[in-house]
Amino acid sequence: MLEDRETTVLVTGANRGLGAAFASALVRRGARKVYAAAREPGTVRTSGVTPVELDVTDRAQVADLAERLSDVTVVINNAGIHRRSSLFDADVVDVVEDVLQTNLLGTLAVTAAFTPVLLGNGGGVIANVLSAGSWLAGPGNIAYAVSKAAALSLTNNVRAELGPRRVQVTSIHAGFIDTDMTAAFPGPKLAPDEVVDIALTAIARGEQEVLIDEMSRNAKAASALPVPPSGV
Ligand SMILES: NC(=O)c1ccc[n+]([C@@H]2O[C@H](COP(=O)([O-])OP(=O)(O)OC[C@H]3O[C@@H](n4cnc5c(N)ncnc54)[C@H](OP(=O)(O)O)[C@@H]3O)[C@@H](O)[C@H]2O)c1
Repeated sequence: MLEDRETTVLVTGANRGLGAAFASALVRRGARKVYAAAREPGTVRTSGVTPVELDVTDRAQVADLAERLSDVTVVINNAGIHRRSSLFDADVVDVVEDVLQTNLLGTLAVTAAFTPVLLGNGGGVIANVLSAGSWLAGPGNIAYAVSKAAALSLTNNVRAELGPRRVQVTSIHAGFIDTDMTAAFPGPKLAPDEVVDIALTAIARGEQEVLIDEMSRNAKAASALPVPPSGV
């Protein structure tokens, strides 16, 4: 599907980080057209793509883009944010709300708006960039973890509705990737190109869940174990 010259892809958050890596890999793989969506399309540097303006939290802009891009057959919901958030922060509710607006509701808005487009084109692919964090919990990470857990449930529910209608719905999970989002994290990180290569190959094979690395595989496996002692 992704190597297909009939494939037209929309990648959100495609101006930098993983989104830019998706966009350039899709061009290299021979997609017919790659729409690189960004809040500021002038910041898209990848050659061979068509930059389009999209803030995934702007419902009117999302609806307008879906009206205009009637040839899309693959949507990669990549746009996302991370903000530190702890129960002990006075603004924790606001921060969680903010992160959900992008990571959960932005993904839903784009998915809902482009569903008629995909169905009108006979089916396609929706790939959601989630995280090992979909299954992990840790201090200071409430907003991001909740958003990625909720986005996993969203992905599974979208699959339940669109799977029977010839739309493949795939979740992509990875640990730390070397992008601006993890600039402050010193540990070992995956290269964006490596993540994208594994993800696109798995999507092309029809896989519905892509566990990119050991951290994701371990996080998913641990989620099936009894809840660990809290120390209380
Ligand atoms: N880095 C990691 O370790 C890691 C691991 C697992 C999963 N992920 C996920 O991978 C995806 C890409 O993250 P990244 O690591 O590439 O982060 P990044 O370098 O910070 O890039 C985030 C991208 O999302 C865009 N974005 C943010 N809010 C947006 C909005 N409201 N509308 C449209 N675009 C928006 C940003 O655009 P601007 O330039 O306009 O801000 C940017 O293009 C995210 O969903 C993230 O959660 C990352």
